[in-house]
Amino acid sequence: MCGIVGYVGEEQAAPILLDGLSKLEYRGYDSAGIAVEDSSNGEVNIEVIKSKGKLANLKQMTDDGNSVKGTIGIGHTRWATHGEPSASNAHPHSSMDGSIALVHNGIIENFKSIKDKLIKKGYEFQSATDTEVVANLLQYYYSGDPLDTIIKVIHRTTGSYAFGILFKDHPGEVYAVRKDSPLVLGHSENGNYIASDVPAILKHTRDVYYVDNMVIAKLTKDGINFFNVDKEPVEVPLNHVEWDIAGAEKGGYEHFMLKEIYEQPTAVSETLMSHIVDGQIVIPEIQMSDEELKNISRIYIIACGSAYHAGLVGKYVIEGMAGIPVECEVASEFRYRNPILQDNSLVIVVSQSGETADTKVVVNMAKESGHNVLAIVNVVGSSIAREAGNVFYTSAGPEISVATTKAYSAQLIALYLIAIKLGEVRGRVDEEKRGYYINELKKLPDKIKVVLADNSRMQWLASKFFAATDVFFIGRGIDYAVALEGALKLKEISYIHAEAYAAGELKHGPIALIEDNTLVVSLATQAELYDKVVSNITEVRSRGAYACGISTYGQYSMEASSDYAVYVPKTDPYFMASLSVIPLQLLSYYASVAKGFDVDKPRNLAKSVTVE
Ligand code: AGP
Repeated sequence: MCGIVGYVGEEQAAPILLDGLSKLEYRGYDSAGIAVEDSSNGEVNIEVIKSKGKLANLKQMTDDGNSVKGTIGIGHTRWATHGEPSASNAHPHSSMDGSIALVHNGIIENFKSIKDKLIKKGYEFQSATDTEVVANLLQYYYSGDPLDTIIKVIHRTTGSYAFGILFKDHPGEVYAVRKDSPLVLGHSENGNYIASDVPAILKHTRDVYYVDNMVIAKLTKDGINFFNVDKEPVEVPLNHVEWDIAGAEKGGYEHFMLKEIYEQPTAVSETLMSHIVDGQIVIPEIQMSDEELKNISRIYIIACGSAYHAGLVGKYVIEGMAGIPVECEVASEFRYRNPILQDNSLVIVVSQSGETADTKVVVNMAKESGHNVLAIVNVVGSSIAREAGNVFYTSAGPEISVATTKAYSAQLIALYLIAIKLGEVRGRVDEEKRGYYINELKKLPDKIKVVLADNSRMQWLASKFFAATDVFFIGRGIDYAVALEGALKLKEISYIHAEAYAAGELKHGPIALIEDNTLVVSLATQAELYDKVVSNITEVRSRGAYACGISTYGQYSMEASSDYAVYVPKTDPYFMASLSVIPLQLLSYYASVAKGFDVDKPRNLAKSVTVE
């Protein structure tokens, strides 16, 4: 997704903008640009520099920003939506008369009708973007007062946006406004900042503002003022970011993904310990009484991608522990099928970024229909967190790699804790059982470390199969949910075609795909289903497959049943996903490295999918 930054202060802006943009690279982009305002010689000039491709091109064109003079500016990394990746489609976009420069993250849905109108009024366009339409609409409505102009424009546009704007007539000022796209503002002694995400400005400040939809920020070197759409000043609370910049850096690992894989014991333990007080599970975020929780008739878990896969594990665990029916569905399907939500339902949305467009819509749908919503979110202050109201924050820390690992693991913990809590209020989990579950959960971080220490087994498998064209993952129950996550990981970073199947479905079609030496990764961690999965492994091996069997310590018959056995420590069957997913993450990581791919920034993918 696109990323925006902005700065106004005493320092030269261009190097700050370029550095900030480099911290947003993880969002995915295909071009970049900056606009810097300079009035040092008495005349106001806005210089715009843009380039297709990597930020390095822009750095080279500007001598790392040093050749661009001025202490006020905005910058952008673009992920193409309207118009191909090119320098002309890159942001910032200027109004036709050059008096306004604009960066934008999001999509203007009604840009076509506005563009048609502006063309009739004599406006000409240099790009195919929806953003240039807004730059010209700003010029069209410009009255001499930036606030009035922005208010008119945001009333006229539909869709999602975070804008950073410079007006040539108002030197020394940067304006910003958002609707349904992320925007954070930072304040420091040396100036004030805008950004799509905290890492972009963390080097300069830890004091940040998160603004609501359609609150307009006016930044000068001395401070930030906020206004509502009636031009009235509004107060926005200042937040202090606690996490360290090192948390967002690679910390000695070759890739963020590997670092994040190894951070899973911490992510799990912190998510767990922030919700266990004196041996009790405490989830103050669920603002529902025990009586209300007891009366929940159905739970809907809605999410996208890996967060959806975590939700699927949650379905098995909540149904098993609490006896509440759970439906788990991808947000992009749920939102358009007019779902009939039962009375007394709880809608749980799961999202690492808290910005995923489809998931965010579900929050509003559920709230509008009067249902309780609980969001499991990693990014504090993100849109979904603020809109849902009830938020269970996972404590995974900033996740930079596009392929999620530690956030997925933290989401599992959140769902386990919710399941145990629901089991308790419904009388299915007594004190002893709760104690046992908590004890098992507390042992997970050390057990994850044991699996990580055995990384060379997956490295070997990756070196044998990194050139494979097709890989299959099979499992039953919770193992099936984990198989789906394993296949997604392999697809997204090693670009190997990978599919997951419920093991029992094999003979209904997929087994026809098995050829000599096809890798089939089989998960068999659920003791009750072990023999069934072993039968499925036998079926695929007899058709030529190379079977990697993943099971628990003690199930050593896997040695004979598969070609390559991988063992993880035992835990309660409900929590097995937290251990069995680790070898799958390692397999995809090492396959991607073996192929020489950009592990952290896989092609065509973005870290947070803020548009449909
Ligand atoms: C995970 O590896 C993916 N890149 C992706 O599926 C992701 O989980 C999905 O886009 C949801 O993102 P979210 O958790 O930020 O909502």
